[in-house]
Amino acid sequence: MQDKLNEIEKAALESLAVVDDPAAVEAWRVTHLGRSSELMGVFSSLGKLSKEERPVVGAAANRVKVALEAALEEKAAAVKNAALAKSLAEEKLDVTLPGRAKNIGRLHPSTQQLRRVLAILAEMGFQVFTSREVETDDMNFQMLNFPLHHPARDMQDTFFVEAENRGDNPILMRTHTSPGQIHAMRKFAATNPSDPPPIRIALPGMCFRYEQITARSEVQFNQVEGLAVGKNITFADLKGTIADFVRRMFGEGARLRFRASYFPFTEPSAEIDVECFVCGGKGCQVCKNSGWLEILGCGMVHPNVLMNGGYDPKVYSGFAWGMGPERQLMLRNKVGDIRYFWGNDVRFLEQF
Ligand code: DAH
Repeated sequence: MQDKLNEIEKAALESLAVVDDPAAVEAWRVTHLGRSSELMGVFSSLGKLSKEERPVVGAAANRVKVALEAALEEKAAAVKNAALAKSLAEEKLDVTLPGRAKNIGRLHPSTQQLRRVLAILAEMGFQVFTSREVETDDMNFQMLNFPLHHPARDMQDTFFVEAENRGDNPILMRTHTSPGQIHAMRKFAATNPSDPPPIRIALPGMCFRYEQITARSEVQFNQVEGLAVGKNITFADLKGTIADFVRRMFGEGARLRFRASYFPFTEPSAEIDVECFVCGGKGCQVCKNSGWLEILGCGMVHPNVLMNGGYDPKVYSGFAWGMGPERQLMLRNKVGDIRYFWGNDVRFLEQF
């Protein structure tokens, strides 16, 4: 009987040695320590032994049982530790890996530049006045001293929205922010028609022209119009204001020049050039070898325009300008093609 017990123990421990997962541990327990295991069979047959043999065999069987239980416990712990180590290794988190950058939204470059321009103008005392994008011919042209059929209209080819049955006053997309001047003057004048208040405003917004789309021209673009109207405003005020703006926008050292020009709604009229950012005035491809880049048109508000706005030109004078934020960005950041602005290519937009 002692030999049999030794064999049971030896066989059980040998088969336990190759057990390596929790299910096999449980199967081993059922086989070797379960109710119908060989070892339990020894216990149930104790009753058939003689009085002398019974305690001896019982003690020996008990020793085997205790030994197998201890081995089982040890194996179960080892299998559990191995499983834990395995899952730790597989699910390892490398905290030194660089994170993935989040794609965050941003303002469109035109909006950014528009806000820069308006922030500078606000510091200089210009209040924002917004005006509609869909206009009538009389506001976009006639009130601004473009007579009907005047050749100066060819300067701004127009998208018409509704022309039928509207005679000489079709509805159109504004070609510039200048009609906002009339809206603004009329609104201010209405507050005190016999003695209208002075005006100092910036008019930002989208403009539309029926143009061939090329690297230099688009069918839509922003403008920021400026308008100052008061009782003693002179061309010197216009020069000082523009020079101040240019320094605030392009830097203290930025050089500029006034060049005589023509617009129907201003007299006299001028265009402003700044020294070329690219070559510093020496002459290059960007400035077409002139050393200068045009950034805006301006002038003293034409008496007819003041009158159309409700301001008596014998009492009031004023100056105005119109400039393009996209054009400024192109010059500043050397963007060679205006089509990038509305092309929706994030590789372009993400650079700003
Ligand atoms: N409206 C002109 C354009 O779009 C720009 C302009 C020039 C506006 C002179 C002005 C001005 O107010 O005084 O080409």
